[in-house]
Amino acid sequence: MSKAHTKTTQHSNPMERNLSLCIVIAFLVPFSTLSSVNAEVTDISTDKQALLALKARVSHDPSNILANNWSTSSSVCSWTGITCAGRHHRVRALNISNFGLTGTLPPQLGNLSFLATLTFRNNSFYGSLPEELAHLRRLKHLSFSFNRLSGEVPERIFDNLPNLEVLALHFNTLQGKLPLTLSKCKKLQELSLSFNFFTGTIPKEIGNLTQLKWMYLGGNKLQGTIPKEIGNLT
Ligand SMILES: *[C@@H]1O[C@H](CO)[C@@H](O)[C@H](O)[C@H]1NC(C)=O
Ligand SMILES: *[C@@H]1O[C@H](CO)[C@@H](O)[C@H](O)[C@H]1NC(C)=O
Ligand SMILES: *[C@@H]1O[C@H](CO)[C@@H](O)[C@H](O)[C@H]1NC(C)=O
Ligand SMILES: *[C@@H]1O[C@H](CO)[C@@H](O)[C@H](O)[C@H]1NC(C)=O
Ligand SMILES: *[C@@H]1O[C@H](CO)[C@@H](O)[C@H](O)[C@H]1NC(C)=O
Repeated sequence: MSKAHTKTTQHSNPMERNLSLCIVIAFLVPFSTLSSVNAEVTDISTDKQALLALKARVSHDPSNILANNWSTSSSVCSWTGITCAGRHHRVRALNISNFGLTGTLPPQLGNLSFLATLTFRNNSFYGSLPEELAHLRRLKHLSFSFNRLSGEVPERIFDNLPNLEVLALHFNTLQGKLPLTLSKCKKLQELSLSFNFFTGTIPKEIGNLTQLKWMYLGGNKLQGTIPKEIGNLT
């Protein structure tokens, strides 16, 4: 839109400008109608569907927290563990730490597109981390520590999380190599992967994470030497 605008203002002749404006409008109108039909329009009801998908994946809820509180007849923003904020009044934080829940993680978590904080610390979630978490580009704080997650951490998750500051996955049963893509999370300050079954070596690319202040990798099956690049992290 702004590009088109810049282009029209470059014309000095008002007739020509009007003409090109008409052309721009003629093109934009059908396109915008199209895109509102085709593109995924996400709003608070998308967030609600994602949270209900999570609720449906919970097989054990000893205090009936979700069963009683996450009611479809009330606004998701009033649900316990949910914080809504911002201009769009979308779900910004999902913190269900210490709820004692057993269940798996639905791919729909990746639809909570305004999420900055996702914290499931100290529950009994099992199964794998959905790679759809890769869509949460506003995410700053991601914690699934003290659960029973297994499998490899999908490399793709960290491809496009430029705002991630805290990643806490300690005390699970995750395996495979440490994801190399972590080095793309340039704002990472805290990396906690201890007490899992990670194997392989410590990637030297971790030396690129110049904001890093805490790194916990103990209690795994890592091997090899500590890369000298870690010494760059003042
Ligand atoms: C859910 O819990 C919150 C407090 O965490 C409370 O304000 C709200 O009224 C509860 N909603 C229902 C339907 O019980
Ligand atoms: C999540 O909620 C717990 C309380 O249940 C609180 O102690 C913790 O600080 C919260 N974590 C984040 C990242 O907001
Ligand atoms: C974990 O959550 C349970 C409730 O489900 C609570 O009793 C326990 O104190 C929590 N542990 C930690 C370390 O926060
Ligand atoms: C949400 O996520 C699921 C699975 O990732 C997807 O199939 C669905 O179309 C998404 N969009 C909405 C608006 O729920
Ligand atoms: C990351 O680190 C590697 C190895 O230490 C280096 O070769 C590479 O240029 C770095 N990449 C970026 C984007 O900083």
